[in-house]
Amino acid sequence: MNYTNLLYVVEPMRLRDIGEVMEIEHDSFPSPWSARAYRHELLDNALSHYFVARRRRMEGPESSLLARIGRTLGVGTRSPVLGHAGFWLMAGEAHISTIAVQPDWRRRGVGELLLVAMLDRATELEADVATLEVRASNSTAQNLYRKYGFRRVGLQRRYYRDRNEDALTMSTKRLTSASFQSYFQQLKQALQEKLTQSLDKMP
Ligand SMILES: CC(C)(COP(=O)(O)OP(=O)(O)OC[C@H]1O[C@@H](n2cnc3c(N)ncnc32)[C@H](O)[C@@H]1OP(=O)(O)O)[C@@H](O)C(=O)NCCC(=O)NCCS
Repeated sequence: MNYTNLLYVVEPMRLRDIGEVMEIEHDSFPSPWSARAYRHELLDNALSHYFVARRRRMEGPESSLLARIGRTLGVGTRSPVLGHAGFWLMAGEAHISTIAVQPDWRRRGVGELLLVAMLDRATELEADVATLEVRASNSTAQNLYRKYGFRRVGLQRRYYRDRNEDALTMSTKRLTSASFQSYFQQLKQALQEKLTQSLDKMP
């Protein structure tokens, strides 16, 4: 996917993003991860790959002025984090551990872009398949995963202790298979068009 001209950018998550990530966690999950857990993922877990999505910064005189002021004051002018996601690469499997979008920014393609970025990275890293667990009641996330070719391969009873809720285990086909790739390329093309077109309408 050509990520250069989209309304949003996806970047590796950094320690300085954790504060914003925590806000999204608390708005998104009944049992959010802690800041400590994220620090562990970023600092100590060699298997982990975490990302954040932000709105692309405006190009032009206003933005360069802001950037200069920011540099003078020693503060960055990064756009706020709109969503985050991550996976662990284990035994040839990209296991998606989280994905969440700030509530005001949902239904605008941010979650889809994060998922695409993870699947692209997992393919680069030669993962065979992508897998995940999702709450049985979370039809929104299941829709997103099904759109990208994930299918239910298992059920784990009472996996989520907070609400005694079952987890569905979902998996893609082989990421390099012709059938997955042809479908994936079509979805990426459609997403790219959606997120490039909306760049023109940026306020
Ligand atoms: C799941 C989540 C990440 C989706 O992010 P998003 O940015 O709103 O999703 P997108 O706008 O990219 O939508 C992509 C697809 O997801 C599905 N989807 C997203 N929101 C949906 C909704 N409210 N109802 C039904 N399907 C939905 C659709 O298939 C959609 O494709 P479409 O636009 O062609 O219909 C977001 O709802 C979220 O943060 N939820 C809380 C955290 C969570 O449950 N994470 C999953 C843990 S397993």
